[in-house]
Amino acid sequence: MKKTIAITRGDGCGPEVVNEGIKILKIVSEFTDYDFEFKDAPAGGEVWKVFGTNLPEKSFDTIKNSDALLFGALGLPDLPPGIAESAIMKIRQSLDLYVNLRPVKLYDILREKCPLKSEFIGSGIDITFVRENTEGLYKNVGNLGEDSAENLMLYTRDGCERIIKFAFEYAKRKGHKILTSVDKANLLNTSKLWRKIFHEMSENYSNIETEDIYIDAFTQWLIRAPHRFQTVVTGNMFGDIISDEGAFLIGSLGMGSSGNIHPGKVSMYEPIHGSAPDIAGKGIANPIGTILSVKLMFEESFNSIEIGNEVDKAVEESLKEGRTVDIKSEKLKTLSTEEMGDLIAEQLKSRLKK
Ligand code: IPM
Ligand code: MG
Repeated sequence: MKKTIAITRGDGCGPEVVNEGIKILKIVSEFTDYDFEFKDAPAGGEVWKVFGTNLPEKSFDTIKNSDALLFGALGLPDLPPGIAESAIMKIRQSLDLYVNLRPVKLYDILREKCPLKSEFIGSGIDITFVRENTEGLYKNVGNLGEDSAENLMLYTRDGCERIIKFAFEYAKRKGHKILTSVDKANLLNTSKLWRKIFHEMSENYSNIETEDIYIDAFTQWLIRAPHRFQTVVTGNMFGDIISDEGAFLIGSLGMGSSGNIHPGKVSMYEPIHGSAPDIAGKGIANPIGTILSVKLMFEESFNSIEIGNEVDKAVEESLKEGRTVDIKSEKLKTLSTEEMGDLIAEQLKSRLKK
């Protein structure tokens, strides 16, 4: 199976972590039928400094004509906020990547790294946020004046239906018992429409229990009883916020993975930690967020659940042997980005060989 994968390394620690993601893809191609061709698609702040655009046309063409995009991070401290990062928005909007999938799973072995007390962690944390990724406040409709500013929060029925349907189908395929919808239907019209559609659609999925929670209450329940959530579906802005809150529950932002997805079309997989200028270039960034994004790529773009599982197991096993500094343990060796990637690659190799 030949697949073309566009590679955007980006800024800060992006290139360091993406190299480890590529390492994992190469192991997969060595031991399975997959054959990957990697094509560079430079974007971001460094690129903006040279070409005056954060997403050159050539890069976008490469992305458009690939099977998937592996993406590092964008943003440089010496540029105004947004100059580099807006390339992410352009990619999401132009490719209509309407699903932002953000799983947060606390590996048992990292329980001590979770900021919550054990009694709140309870039976464990394994939540997938399904965030709407093209509508709401992110449509970027509004204006900025001297004395007032406005942003339009716009949701369409089609836009709500397709993301809510994705969430139900995701919950179904993962065998989840409950789907939680997060909104603000006690105030916002957009949430009233969202909730109506959520209830309408729930009729088609009688095996999945549903619940509605207001965004403010949800932020509290997420730290008070995270074990009660499985799939959580929500709008763009709320999803942006709660997925960051959730990401820290798994021990480190460096562990968070994501997929910007349009099922059946070219989709983009990226760690959630961003360019992290404070640690960039030091070789200490945690590559697991990127490697778990590669796992998502297999599951969501290549329909290879088994390989996704193997990558997940390889990560989990390697955490028993060594860790990057953000999740370090006194009993284990502290590893560089590259060493962590090597360890996971070795684990994966021995699993795929079997
Ligand atoms: C994210 C980021 C982006 C967003 C920023 C960089 C615009 O926070 O991917 O969650 O708000 O979606
Ligand atoms: Mg965010």
